[in-house]
Amino acid sequence: MKTAIMIHGGAWDIPASLHEAHEEGLMRALEAGYARLRETNDAHATCLSLLRILEDEPAFDAGTGSFLNAEGEVEMDAGIMSGEDLSVGAVAALKNIKNPILVAEAVRGNTQHVMLAGEGALRFAIKEGFRRVETEELLTGREKERYLALKKRKNVRIKSFFEQRPSDTVGAVVLDGRGRLSAGTTTGGTPYKLAGRVGDVPVAGSGFYADNRSGAVSATGWGEGILRAGLALRVMRAMESGREPGAAAREAISFLKSRINGEAGVIALNNEGRAGFYFNTPCMAVGYAGPAGIEYVRVIRRGEQEI
Ligand code: GLY
Repeated sequence: MKTAIMIHGGAWDIPASLHEAHEEGLMRALEAGYARLRETNDAHATCLSLLRILEDEPAFDAGTGSFLNAEGEVEMDAGIMSGEDLSVGAVAALKNIKNPILVAEAVRGNTQHVMLAGEGALRFAIKEGFRRVETEELLTGREKERYLALKKRKNVRIKSFFEQRPSDTVGAVVLDGRGRLSAGTTTGGTPYKLAGRVGDVPVAGSGFYADNRSGAVSATGWGEGILRAGLALRVMRAMESGREPGAAAREAISFLKSRINGEAGVIALNNEGRAGFYFNTPCMAVGYAGPAGIEYVRVIRRGEQEI
């Protein structure tokens, strides 16, 4: 059975000056993820550890490095799914935790629920033994400056960030040697969002999906559009009807653009280990490792993407 790992580090107009940081961050995660998959042959454990590493990379809008909301707070969304039993764990608008994806996994494993939000999610995390961190610990100078600049503006059109500016949500899809798939996505959301705003990322079927019978998907981009399209499930459905992962991703993004004028990127794996991605933002940061090792880690420009 073929193994495969695909990860993303956001889809937006990634300036050339940031390509290296993105590629290095993805490479570190993929190296660790590939080693983990070889060692454990466990798609879900690998997916979780990849997402935790990506949250710790300050280049991305997830965990450390998250955008600030309009009140100057960091509120994060994360979700993870096992394709074996379709179990899901997610957290929404979670503050003061270094690795929201680990709390999402604890929701999946230790509760009867799929998603916990806000204060309740934080209380659950503390009860599970996670350390409460101050917002300052999650902040980078880059995001403080962005917040202060946005605060001075009268009108902030959030969707424009996905046409020209950062959307560094991170995600992973993994297939192990036993045919098990896992998918997850984690984010600080959009810059200057309203407090309490929840995007696509913690919602199974929008920000991610995995089913051993067909494939696994993780999305990034303008969350409101991805939610309205049910984007991840659209990619799944296209794969289920026989489309290759790249073509399925393209079909779902075409729907998103034509019906909602949305901006997004998607990575997908099918249950035979074939991988693909598609995006309609100016760039997308992606990495892929097959059974023999890492094949590429790149910031790809629109037009260069392979199907
Ligand atoms: N896709 C990330 C967000 O909109 O929150």
